[in-house]
Amino acid sequence: MQKLTITIDGWSSCGKSTLAKQLAKKLGYVYIDSGAMYRAITLYFLRNHVDWTDINEVKEALQQIELEFLFNPKSDQSEILLNGENVEFVIRDLVVAEKVSEIATIREVRDFAVAQQRKMGRKKGIVMDGRDIGTVVFPDAELKIFMTADNAIRVQRRYNELYEKNPNITLEEVKTNLELRDFIDSNREISPLRQADDARLLDNSNISEAEQLKIALNWVDETLHVKRKT
Ligand code: DC
Repeated sequence: MQKLTITIDGWSSCGKSTLAKQLAKKLGYVYIDSGAMYRAITLYFLRNHVDWTDINEVKEALQQIELEFLFNPKSDQSEILLNGENVEFVIRDLVVAEKVSEIATIREVRDFAVAQQRKMGRKKGIVMDGRDIGTVVFPDAELKIFMTADNAIRVQRRYNELYEKNPNITLEEVKTNLELRDFIDSNREISPLRQADDARLLDNSNISEAEQLKIALNWVDETLHVKRKT
């Protein structure tokens, strides 16, 4: 059976990781959350008081960082390790979310993350989600999906997610963070968020998770069919 490289890019909180995980599970592929890598780097910088406006400090810090994904049968998903420590939970915190987009604009940080992402994808059979996966990391991927959803819906979804961990969080805080991240991610100089010319657009504002999975699986079938004929 031929295996594909599937990329899922899009705006913050529009359900990329939900779809990516479900697709990977259904197809027996490996799911890689590239955003978790930028979040783990951010966590390291924050914990170690790295001045990320000083490029030498950034380079030095990156040399101290080892990232790895490990499958956790309990949560039934792969989780990110930062220098051996499982940080999957703590990187979702708003403290990290507030800084991650800024840190992800730094060339050295991106080069560091992208090199590892490409290595992970060498064998195909992967679903990777992020912002630049179809445009920069795997421009030759066979199936590229670009996801979007209404702003208000995205804010509500992220709020519900964060509220479970921190009931003090407000909708306004979540909205501000989401809009700021979208702005930085799509306006940065290096690898800005944009839909690849050959990506398929998936707007999930008004469809269920089951429906979006069905759409994506149809695209997988189509792509495999075309591949078999060529
Ligand atoms: O997918 P996420 O929300 O966990 O990503 C967190 C941040 O990381 C996002 O705001 C921008 C950055 N990011 C990136 O620049 N490129 C990627 N491929 C993935 C994430």
